Amino acid sequence: MSDVYPMVETLRWSGDWNGELVLLDQTRLPLEHVDHTCADLESVWEAIRSLRVRGAPAIGIAAAYGVCVGVQGIEDADEDGFFLRLDTVVKRLGASRPTAVNLFWALQRMQSCAEQMRGSGSTIQIRQALLEEARAIHADDRQMCRAIGTHGAELLSDGMGVLTHCNAGGLATSEYGTALAVFFTAQEQGKQLKVYVDETRPLLQGARLTAWELTQRGIDTTLICDSMAAQVMREERVQAVVTGADRIAANGDTANKIGTYGLALLAAAHQIPFYVAAPTNTFDLTLSSGDDIPIEERDAREITHGFGKQTAPSRVAVYNPAFDVTPASLIHGLITERGLIAPVNREAIANLIPGGADAR
Ligand code: MRU
Repeated sequence: MSDVYPMVETLRWSGDWNGELVLLDQTRLPLEHVDHTCADLESVWEAIRSLRVRGAPAIGIAAAYGVCVGVQGIEDADEDGFFLRLDTVVKRLGASRPTAVNLFWALQRMQSCAEQMRGSGSTIQIRQALLEEARAIHADDRQMCRAIGTHGAELLSDGMGVLTHCNAGGLATSEYGTALAVFFTAQEQGKQLKVYVDETRPLLQGARLTAWELTQRGIDTTLICDSMAAQVMREERVQAVVTGADRIAANGDTANKIGTYGLALLAAAHQIPFYVAAPTNTFDLTLSSGDDIPIEERDAREITHGFGKQTAPSRVAVYNPAFDVTPASLIHGLITERGLIAPVNREAIANLIPGGADAR
């Protein structure tokens, strides 16, 4: 597909099966565009943990390439030694961030790929197959994001005001996004949108990343503080809310960036439809409801010392959950690459995704 607008290159693999993972360092955006190279397991773990690469699908893709990085440097290992190392790598990457299920989905897919070759190929052949699998995960994400954009854009009309939270754009995926794919596709169809962007405390993914992506593509963008969303809705400036997701339980309860639940409550109070855009590998059908989704808690200093400046007294207690769970009852529709799930309930999800994300 040809784009008149530049796409972001969130991450790429450089070289062959002995190569390295190169990320656009998202902690430096929007002012600096700096590549960050990960040539060993710990640097991939650190990049995910510190949000140099972030957003559920991008974390999954990074982890897949991270497996390829992690199994390097063990040329002398026999097959058992190789699989022991693979296990260590998968466990380490799986301990980087707990909420986005795409991370665990991708690691599982990589492990299955290697297991299928156990006993029938050299460790070099397994490593080649692992790189092919990571590339396939990357390529699949590109296609899924495009399809999400197409399905979601049908819900929006010319002249509409829409609100989004955090960053579910190209930077959070392979290149095109989930929630932002809906806006990008609408724009490509000639619909003019006015997009309001929550700055997204405490790490400002909305201000630093979403506002950057949208303005790059010439979309009418207005940045607001998170606390302004109610007033924006009251003034009837937005007619829909679209966000991404980090994990969706079997009943449709959805974990996403902290503040999403509050936004969904506000949208319901103002009778504004609230949509979640996500690929099917963000669904975790092993969890019956959102109560079981693990919520990451992050360092207090993200709140007390945001971007290097102390803004709170030194010994104050801090609670810093990175995500919250929006109940399915507040979500008008789940926009997936396979189509729209609406109304959102257990049966509708099971119908669209029978057997989970990998069953076609
Ligand atoms: O902590 P982050 O920046 O990784 O959180 C990201 C989000 O909450 C996104 O909305 C979500 O991962 C969807 S990305 C398409």
